Amino acid sequence: MKIFLDTANLDELKKAASWGIVDGVTTNPSLIAKEGVAIEEQIARICDIIDGDISAEVVATEAKAMVEEGTKLAKIHKNIVVKLPLTRDGIQACSALSKEGIRTNVTLCFSPAQALLAAKAGAYIVSPFVGRLDDIAQLGMELIESICTIYGNYGYQTQVLAASLRSPLHVAQAAEIGADIGTLPFKTLDMMFNHPLTDKGLEIFLKDYAKAFAEKK
Ligand code: G3P
Repeated sequence: MKIFLDTANLDELKKAASWGIVDGVTTNPSLIAKEGVAIEEQIARICDIIDGDISAEVVATEAKAMVEEGTKLAKIHKNIVVKLPLTRDGIQACSALSKEGIRTNVTLCFSPAQALLAAKAGAYIVSPFVGRLDDIAQLGMELIESICTIYGNYGYQTQVLAASLRSPLHVAQAAEIGADIGTLPFKTLDMMFNHPLTDKGLEIFLKDYAKAFAEKK
């Protein structure tokens, strides 16, 4: 499973990039707003840090304007994937941009039927939100499972990106199901490293080593 970072924060991206495990980045208008820098500028900076798919989301809500905005965003860098909401206009814009060879990420997907529409429109990526379904007491991970089954049944090439992943358990479950990509906030990625037995084991190894060589001196 590819691991994307769900952030527009450059320090987080640089730190995660140093670990050599980040395949791409997803952003959304909320994440860009948090950084307080114009989207074109912030996305260009992100492209300088991570060499992989970088999703940049439109804020227009009407298909024609989405296509214009998406076309501009796509010109920022060859790695840009234009993110569009799963609305009627978003799907219309997705079809149009896909026909032009511009890669798209259809976001705010909350049902298998919506995901089918994204695939039909030629989306490069579909983003079902796991955590936000869990928030309303629905099993978000079941959505990932259904979409993977549907896409597998027909051989749709659209990649399933499990979004709104809030914990290492979410990440592991998405990988077990076979999601193509998981996008996660820096905090979740950082938590994936942690295991008390790793810390304990390392402590013992180093103590044993130090003791053995200290005795020989
Ligand atoms: O970027 C979309 C998604 O990953 C947001 O996650 O935690 O705000 O629901 P969250």
